[in-house]
Amino acid sequence: MARVDLPNFPTQPGYMTEKIQRDYIQAAMAKNLLPPQAHRMADILSLTAPSDASKPIQIWQLYSVLGQEAIVELVQSFYQRVFEQDNWFRSVFERVGVIQIHINAQASMWIDVMGGGPYYHGAEFRLNAHHTHNAMQLMNDKGAELWSSLMLETLDSSPHLAAADPRIRLSINTFLSFFMSKYADDFSFENRSFFGETNPPYRRKINFMKMTEQEIEALSETELAEALSDQGVDITQYEGKAAKVNKALMM
Ligand code: HEM
Ligand code: HEM
Repeated sequence: MARVDLPNFPTQPGYMTEKIQRDYIQAAMAKNLLPPQAHRMADILSLTAPSDASKPIQIWQLYSVLGQEAIVELVQSFYQRVFEQDNWFRSVFERVGVIQIHINAQASMWIDVMGGGPYYHGAEFRLNAHHTHNAMQLMNDKGAELWSSLMLETLDSSPHLAAADPRIRLSINTFLSFFMSKYADDFSFENRSFFGETNPPYRRKINFMKMTEQEIEALSETELAEALSDQGVDITQYEGKAAKVNKALMM
């Protein structure tokens, strides 16, 4: 199993970390992307990305692999694109402040959410206030489409990130898609999350030999099926959960 030595950068919770963990974990559990115990699992709650490269990097673990410089670079590259756009888009940002103001605020928020420490004071209230009061004109299909394509261009022109660890891009896509779908709900525009593939489902390492009968019975049928196939069992021969539990008990 591929392993990497982490963290690359020291982590600390921010003003937004806990809330985003709670909200994201709840949404991801509902979609079976995280196991039902996710909110109690140390390697999911940790701010340091898993060293086991087969496990996805959670949104709040990104700082541990990226650090401040890489995050600021991405955000800067995004706003350079924003400030090259036509007036209908650019002017909404210009009205708020010069490019450096935007880079600072956006990078602070990313660093805060991604586990780099308390940088985005005001948290969700501030984020919401700024989008509602200052960005309203663009919080619609047309604005979301351009915002997203500029962000996609930015990410696609930073291939060194994915080269460092292929999980990074998936996690950034997960972060952006999570916020974008929240804004699509809040501001009633069509969800334009086309950043690309997001984090794959988290698979727990299951070792039947170390588990009690009750623990094996508590697994879902999908988890049983995956763990049995991982061990070379032809699961088509074990239809239904009870048959899979029995097979697992014999391993
Ligand atoms: C053009 C108008 C605005 C500009 C240029 C602006 C700019 C800023 C900047 C630069 C910060 C960060 C300050 C720092 O780092 O110390 C900030 C924070 C904040 N803004 Fe705005 N803002 C604007 C409008 C608004 C509006 C209308 C609201 C609320 C309805 C709002 C709510 C907040 C809040 C709550 C914070 C966080 C304050 C804190 O935690 O210290 N802003 N704003
Ligand atoms: C429909 C898509 C979006 C549009 C049109 C949009 C537009 C804007 C605009 C015009 C501002 C400047 C307003 C201000 O600072 O007062 C802003 C600020 C900001 N946006 Fe967005 N945004 C979008 C999506 C997102 C997403 C997905 C995120 C998070 C990943 C995000 C995070 C931020 C942050 C952190 C700020 C800085 C607010 C502050 O100064 O504290 N935005 N956005």
